[in-house]
Amino acid sequence: MASYLLSLLFLSLTLTLVIAEKPVHFHFYQHKTFSAPNPSDVRVAKGPIPLPVGPFSFGDIIVLDDPLTSGPEATSPLLGRAQGLDSVMNSLTVTWVFNIVLTCGEYNGSTIAIMGRDDILLPVRELSVVGGSGAFRMARGYVLLKTYSVDIINGDAELELDVYVYPAKL
Ligand SMILES: *[C@@H]1O[C@H](CO)[C@@H](O)[C@H](O)[C@H]1NC(C)=O
Repeated sequence: MASYLLSLLFLSLTLTLVIAEKPVHFHFYQHKTFSAPNPSDVRVAKGPIPLPVGPFSFGDIIVLDDPLTSGPEATSPLLGRAQGLDSVMNSLTVTWVFNIVLTCGEYNGSTIAIMGRDDILLPVRELSVVGGSGAFRMARGYVLLKTYSVDIINGDAELELDVYVYPAKL
């Protein structure tokens, strides 16, 4: 009986430790600009099948190097950049593969590696943090993504990202 109680106690302590692990939280506005004169998103391959709305096609590959700011204005303080690729699927979804590189603060120079599926019509989408570098080497976590604004003529968009990263215990 005593050993049973002891193992219950041990189990609940372990669970408490696991649950108490706090993620590092970042909140960013991501500015995706396709329009001239200073695009941060460039379509490098145009797919053959136009989507029912917007300027994109199934099969498009987009290279992005987007500023991440603390507020919704483009002139808000720059916190980092999102660098990588978007590929456009047939069903108004985008497959993302990108790194966030932090350019200021405590984590300056560290990166967060993200991939995931963006079902663009949903109010909130979830992407996966699959790793990182520097402070986030072997990290895990997730991103909650919302559309803040979008121009369906030229594709320019502003996204709101809540990034939750659990640094690995190395
Ligand atoms: C971030 O790190 C880079 C490279 O070490 C450095 O040049 C830059 O000044 C740093 N930025 C801030 C805001 O600390």
